[in-house]
Amino acid sequence: MAKRFYVTTPIYYVNDKPHIGHTYTTIVADTLKRFYDLLGYETFFLTGTDEHGEKIVEAAKKAGQPTDVYVDKMSAVFEETWVKLNISNDAFIRTTDKGHIKVVQLILQRIYDAGDIYFGTYEGNYCIGCERFLTARELVDGKCPDHKSEPVQSKEENYFFRMGKYRTWLIEYIRKHPEFIRPERYRNEVLGFLSEPLDDLCISRPKSRLNWGVPLPFDENFVTYVWFDALINYISALGYPEKVLFHKFWPVANHLIAKDILKPHGIYWPIMLKAAGIEPCHHLHVHGYWNIDEGKISKSLGKVIDPLKLKNLFGLDAIRYFLMREMVFGLDCNFSEEILIARINADLANDLGNLFSRSLTMVKKYFESTIPQPETITEKEEALKSMALGVVQDYQPLMKDLSFHKALGVIWELVNGVNKYIDDTAPWALAKDRTKMERLKTVMYWTLESLRFISTLLSPFMPETSQKMLAQLGIKEPFPKFHTLNVWGGIRPGTKIGAPTILFPRIDTSRNLNAKTKVS
Ligand code: MSP
Repeated sequence: MAKRFYVTTPIYYVNDKPHIGHTYTTIVADTLKRFYDLLGYETFFLTGTDEHGEKIVEAAKKAGQPTDVYVDKMSAVFEETWVKLNISNDAFIRTTDKGHIKVVQLILQRIYDAGDIYFGTYEGNYCIGCERFLTARELVDGKCPDHKSEPVQSKEENYFFRMGKYRTWLIEYIRKHPEFIRPERYRNEVLGFLSEPLDDLCISRPKSRLNWGVPLPFDENFVTYVWFDALINYISALGYPEKVLFHKFWPVANHLIAKDILKPHGIYWPIMLKAAGIEPCHHLHVHGYWNIDEGKISKSLGKVIDPLKLKNLFGLDAIRYFLMREMVFGLDCNFSEEILIARINADLANDLGNLFSRSLTMVKKYFESTIPQPETITEKEEALKSMALGVVQDYQPLMKDLSFHKALGVIWELVNGVNKYIDDTAPWALAKDRTKMERLKTVMYWTLESLRFISTLLSPFMPETSQKMLAQLGIKEPFPKFHTLNVWGGIRPGTKIGAPTILFPRIDTSRNLNAKTKVS
């Protein structure tokens, strides 16, 4: 089977600028795309913006701008932010794109023609933040648990999608495809929702109330419900129905979301696809929340951490590293500046940065920055080599399993292993003894080769740092490949390497901590 990988983020609402929560999902997607590129897969990475619905109209009003002007501006803010964060998406979809709107209408018409959409009346609790009706069971003290606001009572004539009739099909599908929703806790949560009767889904809004959305193709007095419109982005961006991209990448689709939007992705979306005669998505990967003070970071709750401010304060790759190292994919995680700074100083400035600069400094001093030819090999070299090859073995399944914190953990075992190897072999002592020159050559070669392994494995997480490290090691290929780690001995004796560099400056916590690190 062809090796392909398709990864998506949610398309983000444009009612405010991106914060650290959106940044996390987008960096996970970017890391996965770069990891599969490293493995030599053909990849496609999609992100974008969700621009219809009541909450966007309200935000535009608040900003005092016409809705279309407002969404153009805000969508551009997302797109520009991802460029600044070195996000390697292949496409950026907007739900106001003409091509997307056409596909939404095509799917609606198809489901309508098949008899799965009918006209009726609905009365219920509508949460504008979630842009959906909440069931009584979902409310906590009469409020939406995510937005902490009371839903509005709403009664309207609308179109409905016969979602309820697919309930048993979906339960069966999820049971037969344990790899569909991951981690397991979220599969169980969806099965929990499905153990209760499933209401049909209201998929329209009357134009008299909301004039901002995709018109229903079979009734021009209504626009499409924003979730029904938004979910379709995952296939409209691939040019569904006719384009090559769809046939290539839909069978290998991987959606990334946080648990806030599990219900639309775990229930509405597979049923919409089934009703439209399309295979459900291959994998739905669900992560937890970044919290501050135990509350979810979100725009609607007013707690925001600006990723660009963080980048300016601490550097992009340090932030990327922290987010991927600190959160266990699937669980919630607290965002704290203290932990961020501690990680930068300990893992990046100290363990990795010092290793890199001291290695390059020694090669400069002892061999005029030229990679020496290794000579006699001892048990110490055998041990380091088998450690590096072992880390390569462990890394791949951990990455495929989205266990990023563990993948980084094994890379750091190697970082620490090389640091220990240097301390044990003490090249500075070898350099003082003319009879130990051969040994010194081997130690330096082994150190540099280990750094090639480390920088290659780090490339999905910290692309700029990895590229910088590889270039310094005299490796000119711009895109590292995983298969180069099948063998020990990739760096070539005689090659000139770069001058010692500081990869990650230490954050001085003694000086003016508050002013320097105020990020929210
Ligand atoms: N527009 C919908 C998604 C439609 S997809 C067809 C939406 N947008 S959103 O702007 O609210 O983004 C929600 C997503 O942003 C979450 O699922 C997650 O990917 C990310 N996050 C937002 N806040 C987050 C945290 N506090 N923590 C982790 N991720 C967070 O829902």
